Amino acid sequence: MAGTEYYGAEERKEINDVLETGVFFRFNHDAQRNGIWKAKEFEAEVAKLVGAKHAHAVSSGSTAVSCALAAAGIGAGDEVIVPPFTYIASVEAVIFAGALPVFAEIDETLCLSAEGIKKAITPKTKAVLLVHMCGQMAQMDEIMAVIKEHNLVLVEDAGQAMAASFKGTSTGLFGATGCYSFDFFKIATAGEGGVFVTNSEEAYKLADNYSDHGHSHLGNNRGMETHPVLGFNYRISELHAAIGLVQTRRVPMIRENNNRIKSKMMQELGKITGVTFATIPDPNGDSATFLNMMLPNTELAQKVVDSFNANGIAGFNYWYTNMYHFINQWEHIKEGKVAAKTNIQLLGAPQDYQNLHLPKTQETIGRLISFGIKASWTDEELDNLLSKMSASIKEVLVQTA
Ligand SMILES: Cc1ncc(COP(=O)(O)O)c(C=O)c1O
Repeated sequence: MAGTEYYGAEERKEINDVLETGVFFRFNHDAQRNGIWKAKEFEAEVAKLVGAKHAHAVSSGSTAVSCALAAAGIGAGDEVIVPPFTYIASVEAVIFAGALPVFAEIDETLCLSAEGIKKAITPKTKAVLLVHMCGQMAQMDEIMAVIKEHNLVLVEDAGQAMAASFKGTSTGLFGATGCYSFDFFKIATAGEGGVFVTNSEEAYKLADNYSDHGHSHLGNNRGMETHPVLGFNYRISELHAAIGLVQTRRVPMIRENNNRIKSKMMQELGKITGVTFATIPDPNGDSATFLNMMLPNTELAQKVVDSFNANGIAGFNYWYTNMYHFINQWEHIKEGKVAAKTNIQLLGAPQDYQNLHLPKTQETIGRLISFGIKASWTDEELDNLLSKMSASIKEVLVQTA
């Protein structure tokens, strides 16, 4: 939750700029806004941070995924390969685009694997929605090779991995389009918000139009604008953008602290026989928002979770059973519970969602415990946590050895 750790005077100053003009809308009203354009500044700051040619801020990470899919041309009836471990928003965005999610295996990177993607490809596969999970990044060399070989569209949901990179390229910028979330739990927050990124001018324009009812955003008379495409209201407000702007400026500092803390945690906990960590394809590119610890098997991981709870250790996620990020908890997907018909009901599911065979994913998530890293932890706080964690883990592993 790094973004919220550092809220303060700078946020208040940027918000006040907006309050003084009274222009909360991100477009037009040029005279009244007195040169204050927070959404534009926010977008420029994100583009600078990640090295994107274009960035477009919207109302949430979820709507940013929708923009990324739309701007990449993913729509009705397209099969899209998705991970079974992600925040549900990724899968919802595919379904509400009218497309059909196909679940594939992840590996110890916690992201879709190249092998998993390959096995899930059918003649109807149009795209892969790759989600970079838990602050880390996918195995991009191998995945890009599959994308090229099979002529697929790559869309990246880096909702949890802004400021992560692989061999110098930021997550979100490998494929046609990408996006980040700025909700309350991310490395930088706007309260609520999201940012779409791309290096393609064409995709950027599409996302920009799509996220505001198709408005062209040309000229300074909103009522007289043309509408090159249909769209919807995914706009961010100036107040949210003002917060996102300040928070984005802090990300390099947070990333540095996170990495220092994560290294220490891995060094200390790695001394315990039986403790390993999720694979980080490029350790220099880790945003390090989570320590992703792996136990030898699901049973032991569950025992460690019980031991953490019994010993009052908080701040971790055991996605396998108690978080809403894993397919085992997605009863609505499996049972087709929808408010209104989607293309899954109309065209038929591309897989039997009730009986998916994803053994590698089950095993990986069963073994995974993720600790949210606080960039503001003092050495004393960290040492204290590590000694409690070590004792708890050893208690379990020694007992069962
Ligand atoms: C991978 C991923 N994608 C999308 C989202 C949705 O973002 P938001 O909560 O800003 O709508 C999240 C949020 O947790 C996420 O983790």
